[in-house]
Amino acid sequence: MKKFKKILAKKNRSKIICLTAYSKNIAEEVDKYADIVLVGDSLGSVLYNYSSTRKVTLTEMINHSKSVRLGVKKSLMVVDMPYKTYDTNVSALKNAKKVIKETKCDAVKLEGGKKIIRQVKFLIKNKIPVMGHLGLLPQSTKGKFKSKGKTSREIKQLISDALSLQREGVFAIVLECVKSPAAKQITQSLNIPTIGIGSSVFCDGQVLVTDDLLGLNQTKIKFVKRFLNLKKHINIGLRKFSSEVKSKKYPFWRLDTFFSKTKYTNVKVIEDGGWHFCNLKEPEKLLYKQIFPFSLIISSSKYSLNAHMQLLSNFFKKWVSLPLK
Ligand code: KIV
Repeated sequence: MKKFKKILAKKNRSKIICLTAYSKNIAEEVDKYADIVLVGDSLGSVLYNYSSTRKVTLTEMINHSKSVRLGVKKSLMVVDMPYKTYDTNVSALKNAKKVIKETKCDAVKLEGGKKIIRQVKFLIKNKIPVMGHLGLLPQSTKGKFKSKGKTSREIKQLISDALSLQREGVFAIVLECVKSPAAKQITQSLNIPTIGIGSSVFCDGQVLVTDDLLGLNQTKIKFVKRFLNLKKHINIGLRKFSSEVKSKKYPFWRLDTFFSKTKYTNVKVIEDGGWHFCNLKEPEKLLYKQIFPFSLIISSSKYSLNAHMQLLSNFFKKWVSLPLK
């Protein structure tokens, strides 16, 4: 309840940040900045190249959400109910309960206004928190995506839908591709926050697909700003790995059970009592290190004489197995 109240309290005060996540590692980072982490059915196009979000299944949403749950600690986690999973009150409740039980998310999101108002009411009556979604509704759109709220009739319909959703108890409404004046009017008509995507600065918060804003997903969308070219950074890392494996610079050369006064980097005491040096990046360095193998055995206060003897014998055993050229 605290998380919902915090989001409501931001209306007219500070902007609400909502970001998508489809897996744990991204969710962990997104969680640091977001008020709401959304497991959107946009994962169908972003991850699976589906031509429409209509192809996304409940199982796919649940599996991705389970992973996201592992990364979300502080934000409110919302999961999209996929197409055809909330056609009736009975199916909506059965599927929403399944999503919440299996993913431990805080709320579900349903697309639509009056057409789905009975299901929204039924879910909320059954203690399932719901987020609304108006404007462009990808699950109901065949063909080209177009912005909404262009005519006064459309604006009236959107405001009426938003008020109906608010009346039934949704805690926030996503406005997707709603023209700026319409988004402003809807936002001003409501006590609950609106979260815009391609719907102007007048919304109470903003949501973007994280893969889009980080440049992981390179499809061009008019309203998306790319804040980072993550693909470029990934390529730098992968090229480096590939080149170091080919030149045998990686993996590091190892030298076990070996003492020296030298301050080595990445030194770990390993289970059998020896040292494990990971700082030898070139085979030539190994020869240099051979000069000092026993220099510190005696002065090391960490081990008894017996332990030193053990280490010494380990050293010889391992020395022969080193990957020398
Ligand atoms: O599926 C999704 O990611 C969404 C956002 C774009 C709002 O619904």
